[in-house]
Amino acid sequence: MLCLGIEGTAHTVGVGLVDSSGRVLSDASDMHRPAKGGIHPREAANHHSELVAGLIDRVVSVAGIGYGDIDLIAFSQGPGLGPCLRTVATAARALSISLSRPLIGVNHCVAHIEIGRMGNRASDPLMLYASGGNTQVIAYSRGRYRVFGETMDIGVGNMIDKFGIMAGLGFYAGPAVEKLASQGHELLDLPYSVKGMDVSFSGILTAARHHLKKGCRLEDLCFSLQETVFAMLTEVTERALAQADKNEVVLAGGVARNRRLSEMVNIMAEGRGAKVYEPPFRYLVDNGVMIAWNGLLAYGSGQRMSIVDTVINQRYRTDQVDVTWR
Ligand code: ATP
Ligand code: FE2
Repeated sequence: MLCLGIEGTAHTVGVGLVDSSGRVLSDASDMHRPAKGGIHPREAANHHSELVAGLIDRVVSVAGIGYGDIDLIAFSQGPGLGPCLRTVATAARALSISLSRPLIGVNHCVAHIEIGRMGNRASDPLMLYASGGNTQVIAYSRGRYRVFGETMDIGVGNMIDKFGIMAGLGFYAGPAVEKLASQGHELLDLPYSVKGMDVSFSGILTAARHHLKKGCRLEDLCFSLQETVFAMLTEVTERALAQADKNEVVLAGGVARNRRLSEMVNIMAEGRGAKVYEPPFRYLVDNGVMIAWNGLLAYGSGQRMSIVDTVINQRYRTDQVDVTWR
């Protein structure tokens, strides 16, 4: 079975073609990069609507197939920015109707998790999902992905991106912060905000703004930011491993591209005799492949949707999804 998946919850519109064995036939995406400041939902949606048809055409032709060979259409149903979600849902519905193929709406966060499990042999891992809008520690239990700990305010990636705008690093700032951090050495004072199993980032952002105003070395501030927030994430991941009694960790989401975060989690896991699995770099950030793959899992386990079921959900939570494929 061949699934075409369309992603478009926020900055990136992506299309992927995947078969039920997990083979990726083709994959294309494009990210909206605002000239100044953060993402404006309407502008990002305009970007997606201009590009989505061309990307679909491109993946179909690169895969060397015809439209008639597609068996299933999947799209990102939420969570995300309303205008972006509506644009992509409209494209997916139009394709589904014109090809007379079934349509499946996918939870974006669960898709990040499932692409993390795809192709590796992690049987029942704990997941650290660290992305732009989300920061959650998740484990599967009784038909759902249960959230053990999460951010109480903004996602870790959004915090890094907001910091990047303040520091003039452009959007998005994760890679630039990582590069600068490698040249820093002095640990500046930032609030370490772990509360039980949850974390919080907004206070760190405020403190970082004060350091910037005082004219600290940017390399040292990036270094301190990474050391502080990644230590927080590693701490809650470790505690969740112990509580949930798991011995595997899967990293998911764009922030998991950061080598220092990966290093910290690996050191912690080694100390506990746990194994860390990291999906290919390109599938950590938003992409159509993860949506197609999750669509195949859902459809394969019997899920069906009529057009009325495909209404978008801006606040679609990870733990609302019935994980019928596990
Ligand atoms: P969500 O999945 O919560 O909806 P998102 O889709 O915006 O959020 P992703 O596409 O998974 O998130 O990842 C993008 C985020 O990853 C951005 O915030 C970006 O700054 C961050 N990021 C990318 N590369 C790195 C890196 N090397 N270090 C730290 N952060 C990074
Ligand atoms: Fe994402």
